[in-house]
Amino acid sequence: MTEKWNVYITRQITEPALELLREHCRVEVNPYGRPLTKEEMLEAVRGRDAVLCLLNDDISEGVLEAARGAKIFANYAVGYDNLDVAAATQRGILLSNTPGVLTDSTADIAFGLLMAVARRIAEADKWTRAGKFKGWGPMDFLGQEITGKTLGIVGGGRIGQKMAKRGRGFDMKIIYTGRRKSPDFEEATGGIYVTKEELLKEADFISLHVPLTPETRHYIGEKELKLMKKSAILINTARGPVVDEKALVEALKTGEIWGAGLDVYEEEPLLAPGLAQLANAVLVPHIGSATWETRTKMGLMAAENILSALRGKLPPNCLNPEIYQ
Ligand code: NAP
Ligand code: GLV
Ligand code: GLV
Repeated sequence: MTEKWNVYITRQITEPALELLREHCRVEVNPYGRPLTKEEMLEAVRGRDAVLCLLNDDISEGVLEAARGAKIFANYAVGYDNLDVAAATQRGILLSNTPGVLTDSTADIAFGLLMAVARRIAEADKWTRAGKFKGWGPMDFLGQEITGKTLGIVGGGRIGQKMAKRGRGFDMKIIYTGRRKSPDFEEATGGIYVTKEELLKEADFISLHVPLTPETRHYIGEKELKLMKKSAILINTARGPVVDEKALVEALKTGEIWGAGLDVYEEEPLLAPGLAQLANAVLVPHIGSATWETRTKMGLMAAENILSALRGKLPPNCLNPEIYQ
């Protein structure tokens, strides 16, 4: 038997991907139950044939240099702002991500946040548990109606489209913005293309679904928050830095907007000062794709990308196929 390939996984994941990889590779998993430190990462990737890495692993040029000779870094996420694509391509290291399999679960979290903020579910849960429920009150926990409102989608890609479809289920009017019109989005959702400014002014709920790139960093800042309705609710399941979190805290405090639902943060795992104290924000810890089914599919997809690369084939979800050209 030929010597088995040597694969490193930067954090424990669900079993099926490990089983698949173990059929063909020697697999080592980060044993610490926490992200690796920078030093541990540099040490861990050395001499590997492939690495399965996570969205909170900073796969910088230094890490890729330490891993020289590796065939692939397979990201266990669709977003890949944590990977230095140019540095990997320069070293002939393939990169891959996990598009599609987490689309529905992430849209579910986005819509769940929308409902939780609009109907004050998290706040009311806390109040009920604290024994403050003394009987039905006609003025208790008044929130925002959801049905029939206008849902503004920023980035009408896979997840944006599924979020819009969930909105359609609530008879919402769908508007969307982005770099270009998407006939695909319009056909699937009946959504209407508008400018960024129109979306900010017209939407009752704004949900962000763009990748983090230099162009989308602080896409929502003080100026944008001021353009929104006072009754608006902002949902961010994209990436934290797409929103200026300090400006958001200020806008939530002063009533510039009505509420926010966040799955992602600018300096994960830290929260901007004051955010955790706000009753009009619902905060969850980056769990968009966190279902057993989705995480298992993500693992298998990453494992299949790794096995393709090790066999000298183009991985199905390759981010830098130019290596083979
Ligand atoms: P996708 O299908 O590639 O959709 C991204 C959309 O953003 C596309 O419509 C794209 O349109 C648009 N876009 C890109 N750059 C833009 C810009 N500068 N200005 C305006 N629009 C822009 O990706 P997806 O699968 O829906 O995932 C979207 C993002 O969600 C990921 O990148 C990731 O960061 C995040 N995510 C988070 C979680 C979570 O756990 N919270 C889970 C999954 C994904 P064009 O390219 O046509 O312009
Ligand atoms: C999660 O945030 C992802 O990009 O898959
Ligand atoms: C509320 O519980 C109602 O019956 O209206």
